[in-house]
Amino acid sequence: MDHLLLTGATGLLGRYLMKDLLKNGVKLAVLARPSRRTSPEARVEAAMRVWDNILGEQLPRPVVLKGDINSPDLGLSNTDIKWASENCSSMIHNAASLSFVSTGRDSEPWRSNVDGTATVLEFCQQAGIKEFFHVSTAYVAGLREGRILESELDVGQEFANPYEESKVMAEKLVREANFINDLTVFRPAIIVGDSQTGLTFTYHNFYAMVQLAYTIARSMHETHFSGKVDASNINVKSSGDERKNLVPVDWVSEVMATIVTDKTLHGKTYHLTPRLPVPSRLIRDVIEEVIGLYGLGLETDENQTSEPTEMEKVFFKHMEVYESYWKDDPEFDSTNTQTAVPQNLCPHVDRDMLTLMAKDAIARSFNWRDPKVNESEVALVPA
Ligand SMILES: NC(=O)c1ccc[n+]([C@@H]2O[C@H](COP(=O)([O-])OP(=O)(O)OC[C@H]3O[C@@H](n4cnc5c(N)ncnc54)[C@H](OP(=O)(O)O)[C@@H]3O)[C@@H](O)[C@H]2O)c1
Repeated sequence: MDHLLLTGATGLLGRYLMKDLLKNGVKLAVLARPSRRTSPEARVEAAMRVWDNILGEQLPRPVVLKGDINSPDLGLSNTDIKWASENCSSMIHNAASLSFVSTGRDSEPWRSNVDGTATVLEFCQQAGIKEFFHVSTAYVAGLREGRILESELDVGQEFANPYEESKVMAEKLVREANFINDLTVFRPAIIVGDSQTGLTFTYHNFYAMVQLAYTIARSMHETHFSGKVDASNINVKSSGDERKNLVPVDWVSEVMATIVTDKTLHGKTYHLTPRLPVPSRLIRDVIEEVIGLYGLGLETDENQTSEPTEMEKVFFKHMEVYESYWKDDPEFDSTNTQTAVPQNLCPHVDRDMLTLMAKDAIARSFNWRDPKVNESEVALVPA
């Protein structure tokens, strides 16, 4: 295999993929954009140093290409376009906007997920990259109920948010691209932190709920004699029985790396979904326990006794964005994944694991900080 080009390497899943692919001996190039103060090279080097520290060994480094999926030719320099055309034979398109809200078709998540994917495809066609791995989501199923097959995509379903719909459009674009002769699609469920350490680099979905509850609890000065905060005035819009499909990032990445590096497993669609969903009641219980709340109400408890306070109103407003996360999930059939990697079962996301993840997030104040990398230390030209 020549170099494999990865987008979204600085995100949660992308960092795990970088580690697992490089550990597997894959020659890797990554497309990354600068942040406000840091070059793409320094951002990627910082991410790699995190892995060196954790693993206690220095991993090989990827070639860093400075670019942006929302710019023509991915915003690459002529030198990098030439380099990618000569050295890259496959693409893992993993970059996306995870925004659940949108101000219109020209803004996120449409811009990165639909237009960005179109630009990535155009680039691959011009560069002669014909092997394509696409990171989609299990939630392309939208508001469907029942059993969802890996072979299904658009069956006229409705969507809980623009993100889901934009990911369907992206997947369709990829499937319609005739120049691709080897297409593999990954559809993870809700990605949470590391099953062993609780590590995460971003704080969406489950973590956003933990953070909201944490902020509210800190703002409530009155504690019960038990030392816990009375949250019985707050109801989350959930019966407690909704099934949520959470998957640890280390498992998602390991399975993807196994499939990417084994040609016999290419060409399929994989639901990267858990064996057992988590009931929303367990998520509520973990949040209560970790934060020191009690009485956090579920919809059916009917314990909203008085007008919500200002802080509670803020809580509800923020929770609206995540309302779709409290809806009952359908059942995701994962026959292709189970057949491809029967030895690598998804670890159960149970009370202990969720507690570990929530505690780690609180200890880091819901803010991952990379080690500082001096710009002069990083090579600016691809090898
Ligand atoms: N997280 C989940 O629960 C979940 C579940 C199912 C599927 N997925 C899918 O998995 C993939 C990875 O998600 P994630 O959780 O790792 O997301 P993430 O942590 O938010 O990372 C997103 C990555 O995409 C990059 N990106 C976004 N817009 C870009 C642009 N215009 N140009 C270049 N890079 C851009 C980001 O770069 P910056 O660092 O520069 O912002 C970042 O590296 C996505 O395709 C997502 O749809 C995620």
